[in-house]
Amino acid sequence: MTTATPKSNARKPPVPKQDLAIKVFHWVNIISLFALMGSGLRIYNANPVFGGRGGWTFPTELTLGVGLAGARHWHFFFMWFFGLNLLWYGIYILFTKRWKNRYVSSSDVKVLREGNNPKRKNYAYHRLVYTLFIPLLLLAVLTGLGMWKPVQFGWIVALFGSWQALRVVHFFSIPAVLFLLIFHSLLALKVGEWRLVRSIFA
Ligand code: HEM
Repeated sequence: MTTATPKSNARKPPVPKQDLAIKVFHWVNIISLFALMGSGLRIYNANPVFGGRGGWTFPTELTLGVGLAGARHWHFFFMWFFGLNLLWYGIYILFTKRWKNRYVSSSDVKVLREGNNPKRKNYAYHRLVYTLFIPLLLLAVLTGLGMWKPVQFGWIVALFGSWQALRVVHFFSIPAVLFLLIFHSLLALKVGEWRLVRSIFA
């Protein structure tokens, strides 16, 4: 007679191993993004994007920085962290050739369109969502640069049509990041449970 193996030990996939560089990138990204969002909302409150000076503002509890000047200090401080972090991530994925297999691929798109294996589909969605973060974060940096130095980066202003259009796009990067973040967190849990989440944070 054979002893039944407890279900919890049955064929658990191995704990994924993440590169230290990726863990650092991920942590710096999250911390600086939240600091940028909080200070950005405080800057917004000083001159709302919609409705001008008398427009709708965000509760101070959601913001970071004392007054406009304080918020700008935080924003510019974390802008460097965020921007340089993204830059070295770009260099890292180029040098390690991570870009070749880490992101959403044509086979993921095929699975999403024609596949009927739910596990494989979730994995493809997971890759799609974290891949989408990259152009979105670059867009936030690009529009931020154009607003910060509209003369030196006049081509960015021209690309979007006006400084006000840049503000609107930059502002909408916040709900877009939060939207992706919800799906990214849920999909990470779905495809790899806590083991996968722990692997990127610890
Ligand atoms: C706004 C904040 C976040 C951003 C911008 C972000 C972005 C990313 C990116 C770009 C990757 C791929 C990195 C690579 O392998 O080269 C990644 C991986 C990952 N992220 Fe996030 N992330 C964020 C927050 C979170 C949160 C809150 C969780 C957990 C609940 C999470 C869980 C994971 C996991 C588990 C992986 C590894 C995926 C895998 O190996 O399949 N992330 N993230």
